[in-house]
Amino acid sequence: MIPSEKQDEFRVPKRLQGMQKSNIRQIFDSALPGSINFGLGQPDLRTAECIRNEAIRVINEEPLGYTSHAGLPQLREKIVGEYPHLDITADDCIITVGSNEALFCALMTLCEEGDEVMVPNPAFPAYPAINNLADAETVLYRLPKEKGFGFDANEFEKVITDKTRAVIVLSPSNPTGRTLSKEDLQTIAKILEGTGIYAVSDEIYRELYFTDERPASISEFYEKTLVVGGLSKNMSMTGWRMGWLLGVPEAMKKALVVHGYNTVCASTITQKASLAYWTEDGKREEAEAREIYKSRRDLLVKLIDEELGLKAVSPEGAFYSMVDISEIGEEMDIVNKFLENRVITVNGLGFGDEAKGFLRISFCASEDDIREGIKRMKQALSI
Ligand SMILES: Cc1ncc(COP(=O)(O)O)c(C=O)c1O
Repeated sequence: MIPSEKQDEFRVPKRLQGMQKSNIRQIFDSALPGSINFGLGQPDLRTAECIRNEAIRVINEEPLGYTSHAGLPQLREKIVGEYPHLDITADDCIITVGSNEALFCALMTLCEEGDEVMVPNPAFPAYPAINNLADAETVLYRLPKEKGFGFDANEFEKVITDKTRAVIVLSPSNPTGRTLSKEDLQTIAKILEGTGIYAVSDEIYRELYFTDERPASISEFYEKTLVVGGLSKNMSMTGWRMGWLLGVPEAMKKALVVHGYNTVCASTITQKASLAYWTEDGKREEAEAREIYKSRRDLLVKLIDEELGLKAVSPEGAFYSMVDISEIGEEMDIVNKFLENRVITVNGLGFGDEAKGFLRISFCASEDDIREGIKRMKQALSI
């Protein structure tokens, strides 16, 4: 007989020990009503109109049972069509429940106990958490703050070991908004060539760029790549849960097993409506959103400099900027001061120790809200 006390005790499995609600959520949950939200990475724009209209039509007119596990073939064909340099077909693409599930599928498929996965420092906090669930160790590679969080080949190369199974490549980046140049990606490819290490390329922000050219993908230079993407950010579809995973056929076959048992398939309404992205209206609405974020970025970086006298990374993509507050106080003291003055920001440390002394400011807020937010920040700092 097991003693009853032992039976009552909830046993936390090893892979969940030490894991908790993300730092960003904790800060967000303590915000006062009426706060300006520079915290979450969630577009404030409405979901693109063409997607909303198509969803309504589909709900009223089309069958809405399960799709195949991998998702609608015509949708997968469109997505694979975005990667003409890869020797793959629609069979090597899975529609996932947001890109987060694509990351989960990729790492569950690639990793086992004893493997290491290289993760940028700083980066999206879900990577180490998913590595944990996949029994893999996270090994961080620095994107040095003194280089404006840009890529550094030495920092990258020096953490590769014979246990490295995969490396997360993130461009444009959450939290820094920096993109990896073609040269950076070619360098990464050169370092990885012949190692057998997989690149997991998180391209969820790829269409939100402010440079002349669309950011390149590591998959153009390195074959052993699994690409993670989706429509959450560029089409303001976070709640629709539309993502994908594609790449190396042998890996994708196993990823489909993970995905199938986990979710069966992504929402059929979402999948059918998402086809509207590959239309003239879809691409136009995406370009409009890109322009809106670009103009907000310019305003935000200017106001941080002129009104707060602080330095911010001028992002090349995504909708985040990193502000250096190291000279004016401790991160959490400043975050809390801003919270008291009804502005939500996120401390850099939550993304990795490289970002200590910085705050991540997201510009998923209107230009009026950006002006008001900066005004409140200025008051909070008694400038
Ligand atoms: C870098 C990065 N990857 C993936 C995701 C997941 O997005 P979704 O699951 O909505 O596609 C996010 C969300 O914030 C992100 O910042």
